[in-house]
Amino acid sequence: MNAISTPNLDELLLQAQSDIAAAAEPRAIEALRVDLLGKKGRVTDLLKSLGGMPHEQRKAFGEQVNKVKEQLSVQLETRARAIADAELERRLASETIDVTLPGRGDTAGALHPMSRTIRRIEQIFNAMGFESVQGPEIEDDWHNFQALNIPESHPARAMQDTFYALNGARLLRTHTSPVQVRTMLDRKPPIRIICPGRVYRVDFDRTHSPMFHQVEGLYVAENVGLADLKHDLQKFLSLFFEREVEALFRPSYFPFVEPGADVHIRWGDPEKGTRWLEVLGCGVIHPNVLAAVGIDPERYTGYAFGMGVERLAMLRYGVDDLRLFFNNDLRFLEQFK
Ligand code: DAH
Repeated sequence: MNAISTPNLDELLLQAQSDIAAAAEPRAIEALRVDLLGKKGRVTDLLKSLGGMPHEQRKAFGEQVNKVKEQLSVQLETRARAIADAELERRLASETIDVTLPGRGDTAGALHPMSRTIRRIEQIFNAMGFESVQGPEIEDDWHNFQALNIPESHPARAMQDTFYALNGARLLRTHTSPVQVRTMLDRKPPIRIICPGRVYRVDFDRTHSPMFHQVEGLYVAENVGLADLKHDLQKFLSLFFEREVEALFRPSYFPFVEPGADVHIRWGDPEKGTRWLEVLGCGVIHPNVLAAVGIDPERYTGYAFGMGVERLAMLRYGVDDLRLFFNNDLRFLEQFK
């Protein structure tokens, strides 16, 4: 290995210094550091070559090379920091954050109009002394039909075609009325409950969905009759619509009540003309139903009702297509916040 002479060392130093000054990126600095001071760097090589030198030369030259090494190491460091600082300055200038911009805000969730309407119905009835209870959506024929005085092949079944499974052993409940049956089997009178929930039928158009919601009501005690039914429903309707609602009880047939009625309310602008709209079914519980659940029909009487939640929500909010409730279009749903 040839010893390098002092002028050459000066040359190396000058060249390296101008290279360092010209480096514009951290990568270029790193490459220079490796090339000069790395394990196989040029300055490192010079230090390695000291071993083969005569003693007197080694000492003087060694000092010089070490000085150069020191100088270059400091300059590399300084230049690297300058490059990093410049990069930071550049980013600060280009990535300014305008703290005066208004925030994006969080989109707050809200209750679905169905949940909202159900809660409203529950609040009113709870305050009137009705407890909210739940029942299964997957039912069997006995609870959904037979115990409600709807024997097999009864024509009333035609209006409540549903979805069957297990060869008819299970079905999706067509109404919330089976919860009446379950509650009466479970408890002793007096019983005063409402049951909101989903029900299912083979139906689909502007005013029908295969899945919809009902709220069932049931009051069984001694001396409960038609007068209580009319009073309580009239009160509910006025509270729900927040005005004195005119209600008409028109005789109607449901196998599980006798007498039975459809309740219609007067709807529309008195100036432009009104019409009667059906909002729910109700009646005095049929003795066969009480007997089927082991309640003595000689001692206890009761009333029951069932209302469609979608229908009530459509009237209250002025919605003309029931399917809108289930399309999950936020432009529609956001209006109920
Ligand atoms: N379950 C009936 C239906 O879905 C509604 C109904 C009518 C419920 C009269 C009742 C009732 O409890 O007494 O059409």
